[in-house]
Amino acid sequence: MAPLREKIRDLEKSFTQKYPPVKFLSEKDRKRILITGGAGFVGSHLTDKLMMDGHEVTVVDNFFTGRKRNVEHWIGHENFELINHDVVEPLYIEAVDQIYHLASPASPPNYMYNPIKTLKTNTIGTLNMLGLAKRVGARLLLASTSEVYGDPEVHPQSEDYWGHVNPIGPRACYDEGKRVAETMCYAYMKQESVYHHYTLFNTIPPSQALEQLRVIVNFVVLSSLLQVYGSGSQTRAFQYVSDLVNGLVSLMNSNVSSPVNLGNPEEHPILEFAKLIKNLVGSISEIQFLPEAQDDPQRRRPDIRKAKLLLGWEPVVPLEEGLNKTIHFFRKELEYQANNQYIPKPKPARIKKGRPRHN
Ligand SMILES: NC(=O)c1ccc[n+]([C@@H]2O[C@H](COP(=O)([O-])OP(=O)(O)OC[C@H]3O[C@@H](n4cnc5c(N)ncnc54)[C@H](O)[C@@H]3O)[C@@H](O)[C@H]2O)c1
Repeated sequence: MAPLREKIRDLEKSFTQKYPPVKFLSEKDRKRILITGGAGFVGSHLTDKLMMDGHEVTVVDNFFTGRKRNVEHWIGHENFELINHDVVEPLYIEAVDQIYHLASPASPPNYMYNPIKTLKTNTIGTLNMLGLAKRVGARLLLASTSEVYGDPEVHPQSEDYWGHVNPIGPRACYDEGKRVAETMCYAYMKQESVYHHYTLFNTIPPSQALEQLRVIVNFVVLSSLLQVYGSGSQTRAFQYVSDLVNGLVSLMNSNVSSPVNLGNPEEHPILEFAKLIKNLVGSISEIQFLPEAQDDPQRRRPDIRKAKLLLGWEPVVPLEEGLNKTIHFFRKELEYQANNQYIPKPKPARIKKGRPRHN
């Protein structure tokens, strides 16, 4: 009897479930879209946009850094599917028009946690997705990163800059993993005519797992203390996630099949970000300086002329507005955690030296 009762309960739930408003698209205009890493920060915002635009979205994620909670408001919707799958393994699904390939840890603590796995995700995972794209005739968009430019010797960085990356440093698993992923996309386009797009960016996170301590998250979560690595003179340029998502969708629907920077060209020293956040948060009492991180790029600013010219895209959310939304998000997140006694997902135990730990 229990399964029947469960089925009835699910059915009742599906009648009463409220979803965000979804546009109606005719079958001709409705795309079947796969998003790897769709339960992560960028992926879940992209999922929201594509679902609300009326497309059919399948999210594939192994929940290493992503959370079901980021997409749970779509569960049960007829246009939505969530698959727990690791992209390092082949994925056998049919009928896909577009693949947004975002699966990869993105913050240094997460990608350095298991560097071999990071490499496998970005190399074998990308190969698997390109193979799938070839088999089903889909377009693929690779989320690359401005980290492929390394510690750049050219400023600002345009898409034809080859980069300056340390291949054996602590960040190499991510930087070089993404560089190989770009090479794979290029090879698949030349040899197999797999149509692809790829993009490089840095965003302000309003929806990231709290344990992902990226620059701004460091600042906001540790609300009485801002931590800055090195002198804080290293520069970064951040865009708000809604700008990025709009850029990704325009890129996917364009004819461009080469790298495109999607970023905010407004560059600031990290210390300036810290001071701005200190003012916006109010409760922060001091800025603490930590030792410089190894291979931390000194300057970073995307040249976005290509995106403007070919996609008509540029970021529109001003920095302060993006930061305010981010701070609001983190306040709500902390409130949620306090009320729900959220316990961050435990990381698998480290295996003793000498034994493999790269699965
Ligand atoms: N957020 C940024 O500032 C930024 C900047 C540059 C590039 N990117 C790229 O954008 C993509 C998304 O970044 P994000 O900020 O949303 O990170 P995130 O960590 O929030 O999301 C990544 C998602 O990929 C999933 N994932 C990781 N390994 C996987 C695997 N082997 N199989 C299946 N799923 C896997 C994670 O569980 C998570 O849901 C990444 O590829 C990242 O390299 C992000």
